[in-house]
Amino acid sequence: MHADSTIRFFRLLIFAIMFGWSVGSPILESQRLLADEQAVRESIAKGRDLILNYRFLPRDFHQATFDDTWQDWPEPLRSQAEHLSPEGRRSMALKRYGFTPRPDDPTKSMQFSVDAEGWWTMNCFSCHGGAVNGKMIEGLPNAQIALETLYSDMRQTKRRRGETLSQMDLGSMAVPMGTSNGTSNAVVFGIALMSFRDKDLNLKLPFRMLPIIHHDMDAPAWWNVSKRDRLYIDGFVQKNHRALIPFVMDQMNSGETMRGWEDEFKHVFAYIESLEPPVYPNAINDQLSHEGAEVFAHHCAACHGTYGQEPTYPSRLVPIKKIGTDPVRLTALTEYDRRVYRDSWFASYGADATVLTPQGYLAPPLDGIWASAPYFHNGSVPTIEGVLDSKSRPVVWKRIATSHDVHRVGLSVDKFESIPGNVKRPDEKREYFDSTIPGKSNTGHTFGDELSKAQRAALLEYLKTL
Ligand code: HEC
Ligand code: HEC
Repeated sequence: MHADSTIRFFRLLIFAIMFGWSVGSPILESQRLLADEQAVRESIAKGRDLILNYRFLPRDFHQATFDDTWQDWPEPLRSQAEHLSPEGRRSMALKRYGFTPRPDDPTKSMQFSVDAEGWWTMNCFSCHGGAVNGKMIEGLPNAQIALETLYSDMRQTKRRRGETLSQMDLGSMAVPMGTSNGTSNAVVFGIALMSFRDKDLNLKLPFRMLPIIHHDMDAPAWWNVSKRDRLYIDGFVQKNHRALIPFVMDQMNSGETMRGWEDEFKHVFAYIESLEPPVYPNAINDQLSHEGAEVFAHHCAACHGTYGQEPTYPSRLVPIKKIGTDPVRLTALTEYDRRVYRDSWFASYGADATVLTPQGYLAPPLDGIWASAPYFHNGSVPTIEGVLDSKSRPVVWKRIATSHDVHRVGLSVDKFESIPGNVKRPDEKREYFDSTIPGKSNTGHTFGDELSKAQRAALLEYLKTL
């Protein structure tokens, strides 16, 4: 009996395999799919691990230096730190620089890779890993990152300790990292670093140093990358893994090194594409949100797409005159800069679709929009309430708590007409967002202004569900 059934089983198996060879067996097909799925899962995990633990950039500073920065902090911070335990000081430092501790090792930060010898190096989460209510969300723009404060503190501490300055310490002296916490001059860093490269990314002397217009940008949410086919606020770059490599363009990385990271960045890309938007954590008024969905369909969906069961995303580029948000980013990246990018290895020497003269900004997908404050590409508006009602946008604002503002939906802020006169220290000034500075204006996108107060309230409720 037993032997019989075994023979029967093998006959069936052989039959299945032969059948599979000729017409594609459903059994083999499902095995192949399982193997593919497994490979994708492994690639995603590898990508995340590379971001957190691989060193794509030169070492920035040692753990011992990081733990010692408090000695150079301005008063009263220094005295406060002096009376704390090393752990207490470390959590003050994490807070000052906008870092979140690693769940498995709170002495380390999610925003920096740390090697076995204790050297810290900036990673993508510095700008693409933020927190809501103190909880880190991967892919969320980091609304607290204070890179300018970090590197200017580092330079001071290293000088006192007689240590050598890192590439980033020096680079941030030439190109400022940002005038307000939570935003960064990342695009200009890219332009400046690219001027030292030929089309194969080999280092060369810059033959043309054009005047550079510094401007701060708020990083976009990574979980929306899967919906896009082109990257950046003006959509000038075709989406693929090579387009991620400019973020590790450092003078210490040769062209050969960067071109050799193609496989690594395929994993990083798989990880970014796998991210899902965070779900709104509080109760939602269903009736109100239902009404808001109607308003959205009439006033917003043509640009921002539809959500729910079968989402659509039109990838609509809105002319700058029509959108009216800050125009500096559009012109600061010149046609010349875009052409240099297009002709380089990053865009496969012109094979990728690079837009040389975009006329405006792409309406972004709004998934997880409740979490990704502040809003607009320059991070000029702290709440969705302000996006929907341009008259309510504060001229100057300062974050007052890490908690989420559930009424206005976004950052909890204090509002000002100008930066208070008694705020003198540069690190303190960077806690304020001043929309009167060029590149930081909060104008435009007035589509919500024409709505009634009740419609805006309903819309706000609906936006929480995306
Ligand atoms: C210093 C801050 C900073 C760091 C570090 C950083 N980014 Fe970004 N990233 C930005 C900003 C700002 C933008 C938006 C630029 C724009 O739209 O012009 C951006 C945009 C992107 C986009 C396009 C997203 C979209 O929807 O258009 C991707 C993808 C991306 N970054 C990947 C990375 C990767 C991968 C790393 C690490 C290797 C990284 N970034 C490190 C600031 C940063
Ligand atoms: C004509 C096209 C258009 C219409 C209509 C429109 N938007 Fe937008 N929206 C945009 C563009 C373009 C941006 C990016 C602007 C920028 O960052 O400078 C944007 C940005 C936003 C943002 C900020 C996104 C972020 O990640 O910072 C929100 C929120 C938003 N829109 C909501 C709405 C709502 C709600 C409506 C309906 C009342 C609406 N929009 C109508 C084009 C549009």
